[in-house]
Amino acid sequence: MYKLLKTILFRFDPEKIHYFVTGALQSAQKVWGLPKLLKASFKLEHPSLETEVFGLKFKNPVGLAAGFDKNGEYIQELANFGFGFIEVGTVTPLPQPGNDKPRMFRLPKDEALVNRMGFNNKGVDVLARKLENINREGLIIGGNIGKNKNTPNEDAVKDYVKCFDRLFDVVDYFVVNVSSPNTPGLRELQEKEPLKHILNTLQNKNLKHGISRPILLKIAPDLTNEQLDDIVEIVQETKIAGVIATNTTISRDNLTSDESLKTEMGGLSGKPLTSRSTEVIKYLSQKSNQSFPIIGVGGIHSAKDAQEKLDAGAALVQLYTGFVYEGPGLVKQILKALIKK
Ligand SMILES: Cc1cc2nc3c(=O)[nH]c(=O)nc-3n(C[C@H](O)[C@H](O)[C@H](O)COP(=O)(O)O)c2cc1C
Repeated sequence: MYKLLKTILFRFDPEKIHYFVTGALQSAQKVWGLPKLLKASFKLEHPSLETEVFGLKFKNPVGLAAGFDKNGEYIQELANFGFGFIEVGTVTPLPQPGNDKPRMFRLPKDEALVNRMGFNNKGVDVLARKLENINREGLIIGGNIGKNKNTPNEDAVKDYVKCFDRLFDVVDYFVVNVSSPNTPGLRELQEKEPLKHILNTLQNKNLKHGISRPILLKIAPDLTNEQLDDIVEIVQETKIAGVIATNTTISRDNLTSDESLKTEMGGLSGKPLTSRSTEVIKYLSQKSNQSFPIIGVGGIHSAKDAQEKLDAGAALVQLYTGFVYEGPGLVKQILKALIKK
């Protein structure tokens, strides 16, 4: 069924279709009986799927990755597809338009996407207000935070703090995104000193709030082993809750798509990322002696891909490109396989 729908959807511009589909889901949400029907078709609840990670209780370990619902506009609709958690953002303090269009490209031969969205979002205030007004029904919500394009790296910490403070009461965990390849200079914040400064500042904020929200760091798959060693040290030193591995890659190795698509600037996601992101998870898990939880993301297109991430040391997994290529049934497919295990 989704295969047929996909052949139609894939004829149109990827970004336009994204908004068309999410808009259609929003309309469907208002049709009497339809949300119930969707839930009955896609949701799967089972005690063996429930899991507690960094102090939060997840109904299941399969989440929606950041970037799909940047402004938290479709949480209720997306929850119908059975996700155990949804990560909204990346959000920045001020609204910003992102890069010029087109900025999202499909590479069907490789079952991949390239995007250079550039943190297009409506700003943290709009997101916070959306989150104040939703019915969560046990769904865990993560807030993925970033800096505005015009904020120099020296002041980046202020942007992360603004987003952290504004979202503190409305999200369950935070993700510090310093790994998007589409904001000039952002990845330099993955260096030891700037990163420690941002994470320590947010951890101090946590202390001041009395209750603390788990903070995770989202990293790029393009880091060297030495840089990954630094990440382990930084996580342990700053005592943040864990790591999300990985964001999109700037590598274009082993692609079969035409040159014109391969050379589009931006981050590559989907199948070509599967093994590298699993490798990063395994490395971090071993190097840290499993001392912190990892959320595994990157090229999960099947139950087997998800299981490999979990076997490599991930406590939870997230999907984005696989959800686009395989359809919403992928969540249930993974959950069914996990129950059987
Ligand atoms: C169109 C698009 C937009 C994205 N935007 C964000 C974002 O705003 N913040 C972020 O941390 N990751 C973002 N990502 C990265 C995903 O969350 C995920 O880490 C990455 O795509 C790898 O997973 P996948 O292969 O399942 O897509 C984006 C990915 C895509 C394809």
